[in-house]
Amino acid sequence: TIGTNDAAQAAGKLYFGSATDNPFLNEDPTYKSILSNKSLFGQLSPENAMKWDATEPEQGVFTFTNGDAIVALAQANGQIMRGHNTVWGSQLPAWVSDSGFDNATLISVMQNHVSTVIGHYRGDMYSWDVVNEPFNDDGTFASNVFFDTIGEGYIELALQAASTADPNAKLYINDFNIEGEGAKATAMANLVSGLKERGVPIHGIGLESHFILGEVPTTLQAQMEAFTALGVEVAVTELDIRMTLPETDALLAQQQTDYQTVISACRAVADCVGVTVWEYTDKYSWVPGTFAGQGAADPWDENFELKPAYDGIIAGF
Ligand code: XIL
Repeated sequence: TIGTNDAAQAAGKLYFGSATDNPFLNEDPTYKSILSNKSLFGQLSPENAMKWDATEPEQGVFTFTNGDAIVALAQANGQIMRGHNTVWGSQLPAWVSDSGFDNATLISVMQNHVSTVIGHYRGDMYSWDVVNEPFNDDGTFASNVFFDTIGEGYIELALQAASTADPNAKLYINDFNIEGEGAKATAMANLVSGLKERGVPIHGIGLESHFILGEVPTTLQAQMEAFTALGVEVAVTELDIRMTLPETDALLAQQQTDYQTVISACRAVADCVGVTVWEYTDKYSWVPGTFAGQGAADPWDENFELKPAYDGIIAGF
């Protein structure tokens, strides 16, 4: 059977890719060898290695060892990279989240973080999730130290710093529950159109796509088109489709259909550049640890066997 990345490229997309994390790469050669197969994966995302708590655990002390290892692997394999992420309310060290920094100080702390991390990887990244998960489900801005201290201007300040640090990377805002029409997707569209009107560098919207089995939004393709009509590209950045365990043949068949639906939507939208699964194997999925009783969300099973979802991906491209 054809590889997922080969199928994506045959359909005119830039990549099919996967998130990955250092413990799995270091400890599991089978995992690493499948991930390194460019016919399957043309792109990697660091699942945790480039987040704030991993890269600047203490103020001004930057550690890039884990992120560098993933970039080196991608380069050795001929794979492109999406950077993930620089400004987010989660996985933030207490020295940032509980600092009590005033407006001017936090702006400079944030700009220094964005410039240093993205600058370190200048030239290495196809794209960056500069701002992650800025919205609540009702379309209001999520409360986090950046919004609460700086206001919504933190988003454009972060994008400006990112653009200076790597002028060639595509700069994204990434979020979940924006994959179908609704208040949150509208808020994202309004934010991005405002940024574009003001000349702020913004090139893409990331649709995380952590879906529940049988609940892929029917307006997914329409929403992708609404976003790309603003003059930005879109990408499916964190795809997985979780089910209530235990898995059954019927659930796996529904999952195959759902994967095909997502891939077909990206295929149909010219400026949907690619699809990334948030880990390719159920062995290392974040889902069971986060959503109690749920799992089996990825296209490879825990033993690295292909699931029906794989055929759905190929059919979708
Ligand atoms: C998750 C990782 O997969 C986990 O390993 C970690 O413990 C928590 O974060 N949205 C995002 C990702 O943008 O960064 C999150 O990744 C999943 C939800």
